[in-house]
Amino acid sequence: MVKIAPSILSADFARFGEEIRAIDEAGCDYVHVDVMDGHFVPNMTFGAPIIEKLRPHTKKPFDVHLMIDPAQPYLEEYAKAGADIITVHAEADKHLDRSLQVIRSLGKKAGVSLNPATPESVLEYVMDKVDLILVMSVNPGFGGQSFIPSALDKIKRIRKMIGDRPIELEVDGGVNVDTIADVVAAGADVVVAGSAVFKGDDYAKTISDLRAAVKS
Ligand code: DX5
Ligand code: ZN
Repeated sequence: MVKIAPSILSADFARFGEEIRAIDEAGCDYVHVDVMDGHFVPNMTFGAPIIEKLRPHTKKPFDVHLMIDPAQPYLEEYAKAGADIITVHAEADKHLDRSLQVIRSLGKKAGVSLNPATPESVLEYVMDKVDLILVMSVNPGFGGQSFIPSALDKIKRIRKMIGDRPIELEVDGGVNVDTIADVVAAGADVVVAGSAVFKGDDYAKTISDLRAAVKS
């Protein structure tokens, strides 16, 4: 069954703890945490001190998506703040291989994310160092953007590259009840949903509608 990772980028930041508890009770699998620096992406969110404060509100894994450049100097900080999965962008640090090794050495799952225009060939020589691949299906920076259709072919190609390795394939951006079935059919194991989950009041219903849309 596909894992659902609501992105708290679209949560009410003034009621952050409550929002995390609500998506936990609504049946999310991961909590997707978008960290933005206003440099790698044209938007800023929050950093490790806030993640540390959010940590006690749920036992669900924190899937931390670092949209920061550089990321490597901060990996330890995010590990200590309570991240379970730490994902860096292939376009950000000069030494992707080293960043992935550092994340694993901190005892965390190592993820690599690709922007829509980045070819999947960058993954070729790090496949043995990643636990999760995050395909961006929008240009990172904002919630509520439309799904970029070319991501579907990329998801299929990466699914083939993964083969039987224990690597999760996650897709982020523009996933909603209309797009989720194609994303999962293309090979995604985990989908991020920000605006789709947080725009309504009944998070449990939205999460079950997403799961139902995959089956139909
Ligand atoms: C975008 C973030 C996403 C974002 C997705 O830069 O990485 O996680 O919150 O939002 P939606 O689901 O609204 O496209
Ligand atoms: Zn994200």
